[in-house]
Amino acid sequence: MSKQITGFSKLSKSNKIDWIVNTYFSNKEDAKNILKQYWNSNEKLQQLHDEFIENTITNYYLPLGVAPNFLINDKLHTIPMAIEESSVVAAASKAAKFWLDRGGFKATVISTTKVGHVHFIFSGNIEKLQRFFNEVKPKLIEDAKPITKNMEKRGGGILDIELKDKTSALPNYYQLHATFETKDAMGANFINSCLEQFAKTLKSEALNFEEFSNEEKVIEIIMSILSNYVPNCLVRAEVSCPIDKLSDSDDIDPEAFAKKFVQAVKIAEIEPYRAVTHNKGIMNGVDAVVLATGNDFRAVEAGVHAYASRNGNYSSLTHAKIENGIFYFWIELPLALGTVGGLTGLHPLVKLSLELLHHPSASELMEIVAVAGLAQNFAALRSLTTTGIQEGHMKMHLMNILNQFEATDAEKNKLIEHFKTHVVTHSAVVEAINKMRSGEF
Ligand code: MEV
Repeated sequence: MSKQITGFSKLSKSNKIDWIVNTYFSNKEDAKNILKQYWNSNEKLQQLHDEFIENTITNYYLPLGVAPNFLINDKLHTIPMAIEESSVVAAASKAAKFWLDRGGFKATVISTTKVGHVHFIFSGNIEKLQRFFNEVKPKLIEDAKPITKNMEKRGGGILDIELKDKTSALPNYYQLHATFETKDAMGANFINSCLEQFAKTLKSEALNFEEFSNEEKVIEIIMSILSNYVPNCLVRAEVSCPIDKLSDSDDIDPEAFAKKFVQAVKIAEIEPYRAVTHNKGIMNGVDAVVLATGNDFRAVEAGVHAYASRNGNYSSLTHAKIENGIFYFWIELPLALGTVGGLTGLHPLVKLSLELLHHPSASELMEIVAVAGLAQNFAALRSLTTTGIQEGHMKMHLMNILNQFEATDAEKNKLIEHFKTHVVTHSAVVEAINKMRSGEF
């Protein structure tokens, strides 16, 4: 039975661990040792991680891998990827190498506008509200100056504020719909601070607006928050090459491959069941780079999937076509990313990842992340439409199965060699381990 506890956050780290271990674990020493095993011996570094969140008890590791040979807009990149799924980095590297020999990836940022809202209730005359908004708009911007002046120095700031009437969907519901340019910052704190200031100004100025009746003077602010839906913070990445250059194996006929590939993308465009998996594969690449560079992958996920359903049906983020003997494959997706602020200057591995990427601007990072997504999708569709996904996937997964069975290095080497010429399935690996350990191998 779990126990309730009050004041948990006030306990010291070691008392928190004691409580957890004593409450939930039968082998208390084991549980404690596992938690402690992941502590960093560098106390300052550990403290940094402890202080990222509340109630830290240990660190949760993910591998940080790199995918080299990404030619993006004629510049070579090695892309850092933080991810647990065994085949993702290998697939990215393979796709990078494939396109390196075919002109590389081209990427362009289409727009960089971010959005936020003050959601409020107003039970009165809409024309009066519109006149009030027109009058108060300059003051909304003026009152936010202490927040916006540094961002303005960097070329960003508030782009516009509009009043939106949402009363046909929800009685008395209106919004201030504000747009922002946040340059190299993801901008969440900047945007939320501006919005909270807009809300204060809106509420207080309404009290002084003479046209309003006493009832109309009371604007009820429901909340002020940025939107993670950023359809105007958009990036495009693409690859193309003549169809006859599209195969690097005698087993694959380039024309048949191109046609099958385009069909596979078309299926994801019209069939949501497939689109979700197709886009999941894209997000394997996107999230891994977003995470490695200290960005908010939940924000990116939420925004990307909303974008994928913008036409009323959940659909593919990538598209492909064959035109005049050329194969074209491209992606368009919204990405709100930052290369300054947040974790970017704080987490040593994030700093390292950004240095590895030559200290990109937020726009350059958008391009790199979009390319990682496109490459991942190319690799997945190439496997799916030719050999099937399991061959490569299980080869990469072999190590996980061997580790599950605590194989020694010698055992691993022997079995890796064996499975170069045998199909990897979970049961085949287990059988091989058992045979090897009983001396039959
Ligand atoms: C697995 O993580 C991702 C794939 O399922 C993506 C896809 O099916 O396109 C291989």
